[in-house]
Amino acid sequence: MAFLKKYLLPILVLFLGYYYSTVEEFRPEMLQGKKVIVTGASKGIGREMAYHLSQMGAHVVLTARSEEGLQKVVSRCLELGAASAHYVAGTMEDMAFAEQFVHKAGKLMGGLDMLILNHITYSPLGFFRDDIDSVRKAMEVNFFSYVVLSTAALPMLKQSSGSIAVVSSVAGKMAQPLVAPYSATKFALDGFFSTVRQEHSLAKVNVSITLCILGLIDTETAMKATSGVFVAEAAPKEECALEIIKGTALRKDEVYYHKSSWVSLLLNNPGRRIVEYLSIGNYNLERFF
Ligand SMILES: NC(=O)c1ccc[n+]([C@@H]2O[C@H](COP(=O)([O-])OP(=O)(O)OC[C@H]3O[C@@H](n4cnc5c(N)ncnc54)[C@H](OP(=O)(O)O)[C@@H]3O)[C@@H](O)[C@H]2O)c1
Ligand SMILES: *[C@@H]1O[C@H](CO)[C@@H](O)[C@H](O)[C@H]1NC(C)=O
Repeated sequence: MAFLKKYLLPILVLFLGYYYSTVEEFRPEMLQGKKVIVTGASKGIGREMAYHLSQMGAHVVLTARSEEGLQKVVSRCLELGAASAHYVAGTMEDMAFAEQFVHKAGKLMGGLDMLILNHITYSPLGFFRDDIDSVRKAMEVNFFSYVVLSTAALPMLKQSSGSIAVVSSVAGKMAQPLVAPYSATKFALDGFFSTVRQEHSLAKVNVSITLCILGLIDTETAMKATSGVFVAEAAPKEECALEIIKGTALRKDEVYYHKSSWVSLLLNNPGRRIVEYLSIGNYNLERFF
């Protein structure tokens, strides 16, 4: 009880105070003229993000494998009012492509303000037995390419004091059956990008990182994959896409988007934040700067 009074309560009050003092309203103009990359933009949530960004007057460079899909999305983006819209098709299994893509996008837009990492490789639902290759492939596409893309983009993002959105899932915060390889990749994103976010704060690198924790969303892929297996109400992809953009523009650490606000509240894990905050004090970091 004494411990609670002495440490936890003041810290909680500080946290809440900080949280509410920094609440800023989102305005669509925040994205006007901004230079944004969206990966996995040929369909699903990525495509919806491209459409919202276009309506807000942003420049977009989109990527995915399907050239045909991207072409359609880009023409729609231009109709919707994008400042400019381009695509570069390729696979995120190929790390050389991932790196070159960022440089091409930077050249097309003359810089970069926001990097939205959203693509995933398709992982069928099932108990994990012995398909080790599927774990490796999922790690390459869903995790490792995110590391490559963000590393290649960092110089431009530093210059613009820009933002990174990392699209994750409740499967990146909790255990669920049938998605072991996918879940591993989403937990890896949390470990990597939450650490890099701390390092940015310590090293005064003004590039924000927003981890987006999504529940079931009504994209075609997700609806097909979960049909008859996972019974839960799906949330709309259009609103989901907007929430990711809002949270990223507001430079939030995390965005939760789920049908149930209970799930969001419980997965938010204030305990972890408090321990992270306290353990920073144990480091002597001078020689790393
Ligand atoms: N939908 C949900 O219920 C849900 C729930 C939680 C989290 N999320 C997260 O939300 C994000 C988007 O999900 P979604 O449902 O919108 O997915 P989706 O509709 O299946 O879209 C996936 C995108 O990734 C691209 N892609 C697939 N394989 C690729 C590869 N090897 N290289 C490059 N691009 C590739 C696809 O285009 P091509 O096939 O043309 O390459 C497509 O544009 C993901 O990060 C996912 O984990 C979704
Ligand atoms: C970081 O960048 C944002 C967006 O440009 C800006 O609003 C904020 O003031 C910057 N913070 C610092 C500490 O420079």
